[in-house]
Amino acid sequence: MTRDDVLKVVDEKDIQFIRVEYLDFSGVTRARTVRREALPDVLETGVNFSTAIMSFNSLDHYVPDPLYGPQDGDFWALPDPDTFAIVPYREKTARMFCDLVDVDGRPWEGCPRSALKRLLNQAQKDLGGTLNAAYEPEGMLFKSEGGNLVPADSSKCFSIEGVEVQAGFIKRVVDSLESMGIPVVQVSSEYGPGQYEINLKYGPVLQATDAMVTFKHVFKTIGREEGYVATLMPKPFNELPGNGLHVHLSLFDSNGVNLFQDPGDRRGLEMSELAYCFTGGLLKHGEALTAIGAPTVNSYKRLLPGSWAPAHVCYGPANRSVLVRVPEKRRARRVEFRSGDGCCNPYLFSAALVAAGLDGVKNRIDPGEPVMEDVGHMEKRRLRELGVRWIPRTLGEAIEALAKDEVIKNALGAPLFNEFIKVRRSEWITYAQYVDQWDRDAYLQTY
Ligand SMILES: Nc1ncnc2c1ncn2[C@@H]1O[C@H](COP(=O)(O)OP(=O)(O)OP(=O)(O)O)[C@@H](O)[C@H]1O
Ligand SMILES: [Mg+2]
Repeated sequence: MTRDDVLKVVDEKDIQFIRVEYLDFSGVTRARTVRREALPDVLETGVNFSTAIMSFNSLDHYVPDPLYGPQDGDFWALPDPDTFAIVPYREKTARMFCDLVDVDGRPWEGCPRSALKRLLNQAQKDLGGTLNAAYEPEGMLFKSEGGNLVPADSSKCFSIEGVEVQAGFIKRVVDSLESMGIPVVQVSSEYGPGQYEINLKYGPVLQATDAMVTFKHVFKTIGREEGYVATLMPKPFNELPGNGLHVHLSLFDSNGVNLFQDPGDRRGLEMSELAYCFTGGLLKHGEALTAIGAPTVNSYKRLLPGSWAPAHVCYGPANRSVLVRVPEKRRARRVEFRSGDGCCNPYLFSAALVAAGLDGVKNRIDPGEPVMEDVGHMEKRRLRELGVRWIPRTLGEAIEALAKDEVIKNALGAPLFNEFIKVRRSEWITYAQYVDQWDRDAYLQTY
């Protein structure tokens, strides 16, 4: 869509309010809503925000020692016409996603979506094809009962009962997504009660990443309107399964040939050399990618061995205990990165995945032999034999591992990388210093 197309649709559909949206380092959408009359100017120059807003964490705390302060002026959120969509559940309202630009109109150093675009341009040159992705979100519906949140239903895994019970909610989510230009491929009732997975059709990485951002808004908003709390939080309760966010990645040339496919593969996974090197990069940077894809304190309460979520850095075919699964051979060749969750900023996550894969291809990183066993139940000795590392055990560990990753730092740019770390670290410190009932139960009587 061009700028003129946007203005035409706005007139034709009598759109009065346009949400101008971008994501901060915590994956929180920040926005201003502009009136229709202001749109031509906004499409030209963008909407200004204080740069300091990027130094806030998801608790809305301004981090200590911030890179951006009151003396650092503004960035401008410049809407991308390709992302224009009418918000189907609001009257006369549309939304657009933005790239952030500086006072001279150049990509702003702290813009996650611009970092992703830069890396995708690089990938196109280095890989000779277009990277495709699909985000695979899981989420849960809760209702309030006696002042507590409980699962909205007691549906069983993949049960038809689950999709029947929530048919109204699911239909509204799917209809809304599709009217916003996001095709849905399938819907399932997932492992936990009240848990659903909605699969989005794969597409070029930027579009797939924008689609994930839209999905999160739609899922949460429709849930709220139906009287639920809808969440992508990774591990809301000890006794319930977690919510993950797998990312499938593949590479196509201009004739639609999948460059990750090679029927002659000596390891029998039908993967090309390019796909192995890309996987090698994902594994080499596994800790850093996890820090970006699973960026909250709560994320690490999901990534436990034996939980079907990955806890170890390795890859394997048809193996749901590893960090990078190669889906079964009957399906198009692709790799699935499994440690992310719905708390991430999908632009940063996609950018880091692309950067890691490119490093693998550039340096011909061999991922080694695939792991065929359930790595979640493997003995320590066997893990050592195979050279398999643990995924960071806490947000604190993940952040420190990320801070050492120079390749990801250079790919994202130092200002964005350093401020992301500062923002995430501030949440870790708040959590680590917080005294709650667990502390008293554990220590008060003993000491
Ligand atoms: N060539 C491709 N490149 C990238 N993604 C693809 C490709 N082909 C299919 N996909 C995506 O893969 C996803 C498959 O989802 P599906 O739930 O079947 O995966 P799964 O990982 O086997 O499931 P689960 O993790 O829930 O067990 C879909 O979102 C689909 O769009
Ligand atoms: Mg999956």
